[in-house]
Amino acid sequence: MSSTAAMFEEDPILLCLVIAILLATILVRTYSSRSGPVRDVSPNPSSPPTQLALPASLSKRSPGQWIPMDFKAPDPPPYPDWDVKTTKPLPYRPFKYGPTYFVTMGLRKGNLDDWIELDNEYLKFHAIKKERIESRGDSLCKTAPEALDAAIELLELLCDYLPKRYPSMFTKTGVGVDNIITNESFNITQRPLLEEPMRTIGRLIQDDIAIMVEGSDGLSYLKSGSIILPGFWKLEEKFNMNLSDIHTSGDVPQFREKLERGMVNFFKRVMPDDMVIRHNVSLNLSIRDFKNLQFPQYFMQVDDGLAWSHSIGPEDSPHVGWFTAEKDKVVENHWFRSERQTLRRLPRSGGVVFTIRTYFHPVTEVAKEPYVPGRLASAIRSWGDDVAKYKGSEKYKSILLNFLDQENEKQIDLGLISEGGESHLKYPY
Ligand SMILES: *[C@@H]1O[C@H](CO)[C@@H](O)[C@H](O)[C@H]1NC(C)=O
Ligand SMILES: *[C@@H]1O[C@H](CO)[C@@H](O)[C@H](O)[C@H]1NC(C)=O
Ligand SMILES: *[C@@H]1O[C@H](CO)[C@@H](O)[C@H](O)[C@H]1NC(C)=O
Ligand SMILES: *[C@@H]1O[C@H](CO)[C@@H](O)[C@H](O)[C@H]1NC(C)=O
Ligand SMILES: *[C@@H]1O[C@H](CO)[C@@H](O)[C@H](O)[C@H]1NC(C)=O
Repeated sequence: MSSTAAMFEEDPILLCLVIAILLATILVRTYSSRSGPVRDVSPNPSSPPTQLALPASLSKRSPGQWIPMDFKAPDPPPYPDWDVKTTKPLPYRPFKYGPTYFVTMGLRKGNLDDWIELDNEYLKFHAIKKERIESRGDSLCKTAPEALDAAIELLELLCDYLPKRYPSMFTKTGVGVDNIITNESFNITQRPLLEEPMRTIGRLIQDDIAIMVEGSDGLSYLKSGSIILPGFWKLEEKFNMNLSDIHTSGDVPQFREKLERGMVNFFKRVMPDDMVIRHNVSLNLSIRDFKNLQFPQYFMQVDDGLAWSHSIGPEDSPHVGWFTAEKDKVVENHWFRSERQTLRRLPRSGGVVFTIRTYFHPVTEVAKEPYVPGRLASAIRSWGDDVAKYKGSEKYKSILLNFLDQENEKQIDLGLISEGGESHLKYPY
């Protein structure tokens, strides 16, 4: 906010122009057919398909142009009973029984209140992030000059959101935010900023986060990121890439056929009052142009590296991948990585913010949950060749399936689960 304010003081004509544009935007919104500025955002599988309609004022914008919007999300309520010691990580187990692998995009309409999830692994994540920012921050956190305003807007948004959502950890100050548990104090009004903004953002939350900015060719480019705990990929390799290249360079199965068009359109259409979450079991929710898209959102890892999966090779080595991984280690070395992802647009800069929250647990622990070993084994057996290759299943499939089948048998013998018994259960299973 402060940087915009300073800009306006220096340039009254700019201020008038912005006010005129804002008024026009508000008028168009009021008189356009779209009813109400904020749509019902409660996730409800039985509601009609979500429409991401473009307001008339924006449908004609030229590629790469964004007219700052006067949108502020409602204040989030404090997270219920949140405590840095006792709030457990949410159990995302986003896999389904076979026989067919419908990895849809799994998009749901989210509520902006739920944007950032923090839990009792905060201090562990924070310590790992701190160490990595110190040792290799330049390659993990980067912002291109054309995305600096978006990165600052994101930082300001977090300094506003976090104290309201997690008041036992964050206090808003006149110059930014204090973390009263780690005793850090962030002054975000200094210029130049005391620290590259994506580093500061990395210290504030458990998520990794990236900003996509539309170029004058209408494509979205990865222009800013805080990618500190990625497991299998590197920001450096994808920085400045367009959306399509980001995915095809990672060999995401069926991206070209099933994902590309919808995803590209989606990045154009997402508005500041939308938030989309990808996690959990995929629902066949059809966002216009976005039906039944496929995408994997959980991974097996044959080591315990949250920040980097060292079994696929050293982080600094240029050629790593499942092909270099070791095979068939004992099941105690197998970890389950699931991701909760959200997308929203920054109203002032127009950048699209993509959050990736990683949940990371030993398979032996996850398999204690009723129905999980049976369901996970079934899901893994249903992967097609492309998905299996992407997920590196050759390196762990036999030992893992053997273990999961045994655990499933145990659950049946103990009477913990029954055939078809899961259907009536509410998430978490
Ligand atoms: C933060 O400061 C308080 C009070 O000085 C102290 O008790 C606590 O141990 C500090 N926390 C950390 C993580 O340094
Ligand atoms: C924050 O930065 C501003 C701008 O440099 C400075 O004037 C102010 O004293 C700083 N405030 C604190 C609390 O550090
Ligand atoms: C993305 O960039 C690549 C390489 O620069 C280019 O070949 C490709 O056509 C671009 N994608 C689209 C959808 O234009
Ligand atoms: C997970 O998905 C189920 C439907 O499959 C839904 O009812 C539930 O609310 C979702 N859980 C979370 C935490 O979003
Ligand atoms: C989801 O979509 C697929 C493909 O259209 C369909 O076959 C499947 O039955 C749908 N699943 C649900 C739960 O509606």
